Amino acid sequence: MKLIDAFQDEHALIDQVLGSLRTYVDGLAHGTTDADDGSRFIAFFTEFAGRFHHEREEGVFFEALVTQADLPRTSGPVHALLREHAEMEQWLREMAPLLAPATHSADDRERLQAMAVRYTRALWRHIDAENSVLYPEGEERLGRCGIREMADRPMSESEAAARDEGARLVARYRPREDASLTRGDGCFMCRAHGETCDGLEAEWWTDLEWQEFFLR
Ligand SMILES: [Fe+2]
Ligand SMILES: [Fe+2]
Repeated sequence: MKLIDAFQDEHALIDQVLGSLRTYVDGLAHGTTDADDGSRFIAFFTEFAGRFHHEREEGVFFEALVTQADLPRTSGPVHALLREHAEMEQWLREMAPLLAPATHSADDRERLQAMAVRYTRALWRHIDAENSVLYPEGEERLGRCGIREMADRPMSESEAAARDEGARLVARYRPREDASLTRGDGCFMCRAHGETCDGLEAEWWTDLEWQEFFLR
């Protein structure tokens, strides 16, 4: 499905810019960064990751899963990932003032450091859950309803500018990985598992899927 391919390409860029954000925030303490780039990171995550990427996930893909494939909106993976979008948006809003130029006292940097770790870890794990579970499983379930493609929308000018700025930030601040974060595929690696979602089998499997499972 072209829409899913597009989402995965967007994830690849978002994943890298998250690593660049961590490099940038680490560099603030050593004065090796351009203070104006903080607002460029915010623009990327607000315009590109939030407005362009998350809005289409919600308005097109999640919507089709609920209305076409009859999957639940208020429980399970769709509910869990919607909550994560809202939560990460809130965390981004809280982080934004600390990324503005001229607010980089030692205390600010410490708070920003903690906020950046929280935000990047959440979004990295969110990307892994979508790539490994929601996209393939959702695409498969839409296919059962005869849906093989979905309408996409073009990027707005401001979204495209944010995307291009994100690519420049990646070139300027070499993305770093978080050695303390274990990343991986599947429901058990998802932040929502056992909290807002009990996993794909419990939440989405039909009686037929359970029968087939026991007959294997
Ligand atoms: Fe998402
Ligand atoms: Fe996503």
